[in-house]
Amino acid sequence: MNRREFISTAAVAGAGLLILPSGMRAGENAPSNKLNIALIGVWGRGLAHYDSLAAENVVALCDVNEKRFPDALKKFPNAKTYVDWRKCLDQKGLDAVVCCTADHTHAFVSNWALNRDLHVYQEKPLAISVDEARIVRANWMKKKAKLATQVGMQRHAIPNFNRVRELVRDGAIGDLTAAFAWGDRQIRRPGYPPAEGQPPEGFHYDLWLGPSPDHPYNPSYFSGGAGMNCLSWNMYWDFGAGQIGDMGSHTMDLLWNAVDATLPTSAEAKGEKFNPDVTPVECESHFDHPANDWRGPIRVSWYQGGAMPASPKPYIDLKKIGHGAMFKGTKGHLIADFDSRVLLPFGTDADLTYYKPRAKDATLPAIGHFQKQWLDACKNPSLKTACDFEYSGNMIEQLLLGLVAYRVGKKLEYNGATGKVTNCPEANEFLARKYRAGWTING
Ligand SMILES: NC(=O)c1ccc[n+]([C@@H]2O[C@H](COP(=O)([O-])OP(=O)(O)OC[C@H]3O[C@@H](n4cnc5c(N)ncnc54)[C@H](O)[C@@H]3O)[C@@H](O)[C@H]2O)c1
Repeated sequence: MNRREFISTAAVAGAGLLILPSGMRAGENAPSNKLNIALIGVWGRGLAHYDSLAAENVVALCDVNEKRFPDALKKFPNAKTYVDWRKCLDQKGLDAVVCCTADHTHAFVSNWALNRDLHVYQEKPLAISVDEARIVRANWMKKKAKLATQVGMQRHAIPNFNRVRELVRDGAIGDLTAAFAWGDRQIRRPGYPPAEGQPPEGFHYDLWLGPSPDHPYNPSYFSGGAGMNCLSWNMYWDFGAGQIGDMGSHTMDLLWNAVDATLPTSAEAKGEKFNPDVTPVECESHFDHPANDWRGPIRVSWYQGGAMPASPKPYIDLKKIGHGAMFKGTKGHLIADFDSRVLLPFGTDADLTYYKPRAKDATLPAIGHFQKQWLDACKNPSLKTACDFEYSGNMIEQLLLGLVAYRVGKKLEYNGATGKVTNCPEANEFLARKYRAGWTING
């Protein structure tokens, strides 16, 4: 039995059930039951993972900014350090990777890690092009029986996500016909900033650019505080997907969790004037989804940067909910933010007698600690994670297809099986992005 099989077996057997060779009990934190983890991107969002990783063996730290290592090494003194994630992923004995780099490297790191049979926790968004989402999802689907994945949409663990799903599934608004999500963050940039200064010593800007086309160094990309610096680069097409990769990932998740959709059959979008450098601030996109086994066809809509769905009642100002979701059914509306919800029955038979709330013991189980859910699944991949690469891959593919519809300004018919737009050849050009020479997503 090799070390990884041993970790899995110990976790499945559970504490106290397996006698280890040393006579030690296989508890969650028994030294022999720890995962060897690489943390890629150790500052910013990376800091938010320190506590949950402290119970495991963090054996590798990777960051393009060498100045981030001394503090990270205080927390994880036994780790080797790397500036190039490609080299880091080849460290012997790794079990799993947590990736907190800039968005334009996410699909690359995830796909390379899957190619090395590593479990992956990928900060959101999983990808910034339709093609990337499809590549990473397909890779994981082949390996899902043995590898655990999670995309960093940790708000999913807020109990309200389960409550919203229960209300929609149990018919509190009748039959679901449409669902809307929105986010009102508005960060405007005119275009890529001009060349300014030199990268500070120890900062490997060329590695930060990674697979994306070359843009000159400018300190404004790196001027934000810890966990907020993504707001300095994620609006540029070559480095992110704007609102979609930012709060859109969290807010669409609130909707996505309740509708059991896969891939849309169409996408259309409109927004402010196209800027070749910067993703749109104000934009709305709409997607048709086929029926599934519990509901009919639905329309899913995403609004950002000031665009908003119509409120069902004049006394409800949806704009007061900065990031929210609304579900429309044949008997009413459900409006939610991340941690609360409002049910709004309408029509002559909307007396709620058709709806039976669940008994307490039939409510959906709490997810618990979101990062720990993934760590547990790494040790026992038969355990499901809430935001695995199938669920999250479908969700981001849909949103990214909306950005393609926005770019071409046409309603797109989409074949989810082939990943091709069937009615607009020029749209297919925008499903993938162009990479710098020397970089491959499949390494
Ligand atoms: N889940 C959440 O709530 C949440 C919150 C904030 C940020 N994020 C996500 O986390 C990611 C990082 O955001 P941030 O604000 O911390 O950004 P950041 O620019 O501060 O980057 C984080 C760290 O990664 C390093 N890094 C960047 N590219 C790298 C690369 N190619 N290889 C190795 N290290 C690299 C940076 O030097 C930095 O130390 C983004 O994708 C963002 O969407 C998620």
